[in-house]
Amino acid sequence: MIFYKTDDEIQIMRKAGRIVADVLSYTKERIKPGLSTAEIELIALDRMKSVAPEAIPSFKGYMGYPASICISINSEVVHGIPSKNKILLDGDLVSIDFGAMSHGYHGDSAFSMVVGKGSEDTKRLVRVAEESLYEGIKQAKVGNRLHDISFAIQDYVESHGYSVVRDFVGHGIGRNMHEAPQVPNYGEKGTGPKIENGMTIAVEPMVNAGNPDVLILNDGWTAVTSDGSLSAHFEHTLAITSKGTYILTEL
Ligand code: MF3
Ligand code: CO
Repeated sequence: MIFYKTDDEIQIMRKAGRIVADVLSYTKERIKPGLSTAEIELIALDRMKSVAPEAIPSFKGYMGYPASICISINSEVVHGIPSKNKILLDGDLVSIDFGAMSHGYHGDSAFSMVVGKGSEDTKRLVRVAEESLYEGIKQAKVGNRLHDISFAIQDYVESHGYSVVRDFVGHGIGRNMHEAPQVPNYGEKGTGPKIENGMTIAVEPMVNAGNPDVLILNDGWTAVTSDGSLSAHFEHTLAITSKGTYILTEL
């Protein structure tokens, strides 16, 4: 069942969202070749503790996930586990996904970027993935149907020659990191649940340069493209109300 939030609950979710946004932007500014993904996790966690001592990382222990952040490189799509042995190189495409809970409510957001100087092809993939998220967000308004968001993302991505991952979807968010409804990144206009006042959702397109299929590595978590192509991921937590739609994980 979908939990519609009151204005007061959305106020609390703004705070959680702002913490996530702050942690991600702080971390993004510090990304450079030579850092290990374990070091990046520490940068993010230290920042969270200093700006929001009460906050708890949403991912740690979720279904047994062993870390507080997901860092996925190149053909890794999502759920890359930080490691001191994974070192960022110039030109890598890195995707960083972080969630935090504050006062009982979660925020969840992700971005991708090119480390150092990357190729034009890699930068284009990152740009199209980010733009596809905003195409989806434009459709996230009271009166629309949920799959209007999904369709907009798929249409934008495919018209640029890329594909959307189908094995993972966006989600409702609130007291739980994952709630109903699921928010796929593909679908038909005019279908899915009605978007109503108080819906809070995380929209998160995963965009592959090649085909949409993914595999899970032996660590049980890391999703990679089956054809080895690059993949990018962007995510925002939104509050949709009759007064407007708010991106909660933007500073
Ligand atoms: N942003 C991802 C999601 O919404 C993060 C989940 S990673 C997990 O599914 F480890 F916590 F599962
Ligand atoms: Co999410």
